Amino acid sequence: MTRPCVHPYSADWMLRTNWQHPIVVVAQMSAASSFPRYYQSRWQSGIHYMPSDTSPHLSTIVLRDKTMTTSTPQFDSVKYKQTTREQWQTAAEAWHRWGPTIEQWLGPVTEEMLNIAGVKAGSRVLDVAAGAGGQTLVAARRVRSNGYILATDISSDILEYAAQDALRAGLTHVETRVLDGENLDVEPGMFDAVISRLGLIYFPDQHKALTDMHRALKPGGKMAAIVYSTAENNKFFSIPVSIARRRAQLPPPLPGQPGPFSLGQPGVLEDAYKKAGFHDIQIRVVPTPLHMTSAVEYLRFARESFGALHQMLVGMSNETERQDVWKEIEQQLKQFEGAAGYEGPCELIIGVGVK
Ligand SMILES: C[S@@+](CC[C@H](N)C(=O)[O-])C[C@H]1O[C@@H](n2cnc3c(N)ncnc32)[C@H](O)[C@@H]1O
Repeated sequence: MTRPCVHPYSADWMLRTNWQHPIVVVAQMSAASSFPRYYQSRWQSGIHYMPSDTSPHLSTIVLRDKTMTTSTPQFDSVKYKQTTREQWQTAAEAWHRWGPTIEQWLGPVTEEMLNIAGVKAGSRVLDVAAGAGGQTLVAARRVRSNGYILATDISSDILEYAAQDALRAGLTHVETRVLDGENLDVEPGMFDAVISRLGLIYFPDQHKALTDMHRALKPGGKMAAIVYSTAENNKFFSIPVSIARRRAQLPPPLPGQPGPFSLGQPGVLEDAYKKAGFHDIQIRVVPTPLHMTSAVEYLRFARESFGALHQMLVGMSNETERQDVWKEIEQQLKQFEGAAGYEGPCELIIGVGVK
């Protein structure tokens, strides 16, 4: 039986999450021209669209597959991870180049995380989603040469910067390994602490990651993560994301989907730790404003380093329109500019649990 199903998800959302089902796509729009050329070309292979006048809602798509069975939206974590990896391969150089700014911003909260996690001389530390190694090097100096750091990341390019910087600094007790944080193929029970700074939020299966981290720890070892709190308290990031989302006509992320604020609501990080088997959990909310000379300088940092923003705008075929989005973001961010420069509101959470 023909059972078309209507989903309030945009075409871009389906492409981004690699919706597997649509064979025939009927986009309910008033005119064919309003259907972005980008989607038309991406859907050439066996997938067709037809404009229709039946609904005025641009974001409503009717999907039917060949057997005319109903489909439901599916989040493809494998494809998501592939995209994440590609984004960070691309942003690796910029994240490393902006390293001094990032460390000035995140330095104090990183020290606090390492203090609560009890990282000290001789500690063995597993750093998950280490990126260009900002926190890796701070931890490496703490544990001294009789300690050990294994820095891991899904992106080989960004991790190479961590390896090179450690080498240059003479920190020979730092090892790097390309690893998916959800598949931590390390010897169990070998680490005094596992740390992850702004990484766990991007994992599709945070529970799997946390249980792997739990397994990597010695009994009594500590898991310590830094995550963003809510969108409301992180306007330096949520404003650009929400403008990009609106202008590219993207829907909000599905519940449970990874993203910057996925662990930010009160109780969420604590629950995730509990479910993975941690006890004596400490949650600390740390205001961490981002200081830069101007909104324009911040925007340059965001444009170069936050690959996800670019990804959101990829579906906009018109370059002028895309430039206009960046202009709108800049205008909005100017509200955080004062005599002392730009101060972007940012609030982080440090979560620590014991095995
Ligand atoms: C915002 S950066 C943070 C990097 C570093 N921890 C820092 O604070 O400077 C996020 C990092 O998470 C990594 N990442 C994302 N998903 C991952 C996964 N599934 N496994 C391992 N690393 C991942 C990215 O490659 C990127 O290096």
